Amino acid sequence: MIRSVVAGCGAYLPARTLTNEELAQKVDTSDAWIVERTGIRERHIAAEGELTSDLARIAAERALADARIAAEEVDLIVLATATPDLTFPATAAKVQSQLGIRRGAAFDIQAVCTGFIYALAVADNFLKAGQFKTALVIGAETFSRILDWNDRGTCVLFGDGAGAVVLRAEEARGTNRDRGVLSTHLHADGRQHDLLYVDGGPSSTGTSGFLRMAGKEVFRHAVVNLAAVVDEALHANGLTAKDVDWLVPHQANKRILDATARKLGLAPEKVIVTVDKHGNTSAASVPLALAAGAADGRIKPGQLLLLEAMGGGFTWGSALVRW
Ligand code: UT7
Repeated sequence: MIRSVVAGCGAYLPARTLTNEELAQKVDTSDAWIVERTGIRERHIAAEGELTSDLARIAAERALADARIAAEEVDLIVLATATPDLTFPATAAKVQSQLGIRRGAAFDIQAVCTGFIYALAVADNFLKAGQFKTALVIGAETFSRILDWNDRGTCVLFGDGAGAVVLRAEEARGTNRDRGVLSTHLHADGRQHDLLYVDGGPSSTGTSGFLRMAGKEVFRHAVVNLAAVVDEALHANGLTAKDVDWLVPHQANKRILDATARKLGLAPEKVIVTVDKHGNTSAASVPLALAAGAADGRIKPGQLLLLEAMGGGFTWGSALVRW
C-alpha cells in the first residue's frame, strides 16, 4: 500500500504586520473588541507588488529545504488559493516555473478557507493512485487585496501568508507503516453561497470584487460542521480524541477553535493556535499552523494530527495525518 508521507513543511509571512491599534485608526473598532470576539492581535499584509505566487514560492522553497528534496523531484504542485495572481494561468504554474520545475502537473484549487484540506486530499489521492511521486501542496493568499477596508465586520479578520508541505509517495512498511495521510474527508453545501462570497469575478462583474460575509451565520455553521467533520475523521479510522496529539485547525476565530476542542474533549494545550498573530489567512492558515508547530518542536515525528477547515461555498473538511 502507498501512503503520502509528509517529508517537510515551510511557511512565509510578509514582513509588514498590521496591529489592531492601527486598524482602530482607520475604522470604528478597537483592540479590545477584536481580541475578545476573535482572538486576533495582528496580521501580516503583503507589500505592494508582492503577489500570492511570491508568498507561495518562498513557502515552497522552505518546505523543500526542510524535506531535503530538490525541486526537480517534484512532479505535482497543487496550490490552494482564492486570491490568485491572475484569473489564469494557475498560480501553481507560475510557482512551478519560479522553482525551475519543468515536468509534472501544476494547478490551483479553489475551496477558499478549506482550500488546503481539498488540495491535500487531491494530492494524496494522486500519490496513492501511483500517478505522481512527489507533491508540493501549498496554501497561499493575499486576502488584503479583496477586503473592503471600510467594512469593520470583515477587514479586521484577515491576513496574508503562505504555507506548504512536501508529500512523498512511500510504501507503507517498516518505519513508514503508520505514517502519512491516513484519511481525508471533504464536504460542500452550495446553498450557503451567499453567506460568504466575493462580489466580483470575470464572468459576473469583470472586477475582482470584495469579500462579503454574514459573520454570525458563518460562525454558527462553522461550529456545527467542524464538530461533525472531526468526529467523522476519528470514527473512520477507529480512533478517539484521546489518540490525537495535535488539533491543527483553520484559524478563523479563537472562539471557533475553542468550541471545536471543547466538543472533542481536547485540552486547549493540544490545539495549534496562530490566529492571534496571523488573523485568518484562508487556505494558508492550516499549513502556516503546521509549520509553526513543527518549527518550534511541538509537532514531532510519529504524532497524530487532526487538520480541519471550513470556508466559503460552504466547504469544509478534515485530514488525519501521522507526522
Ligand atoms: O474562514 C472562513 C470562516 N469564517 C469564519 O469562521 C468567521 C465566522 N464569524 C466570526 O468569526 C464572527 O461572527 C465575527 C468575528 C465575524 C463577528 O463576531 P460576532 O460576535 O458574531 O459579532 P456580530 O457580527 O454579531 O456583531 C456584534 C456587534 C455588532 O454591533 P451591534 O449590531 O450589536 O450594535 C457589530 O456591528 O459588533 C459590531 N462589530 C464590531 N464592533 C467593533 C462588528 N465588527 C466590529 C468591529 N469592531 N470590527
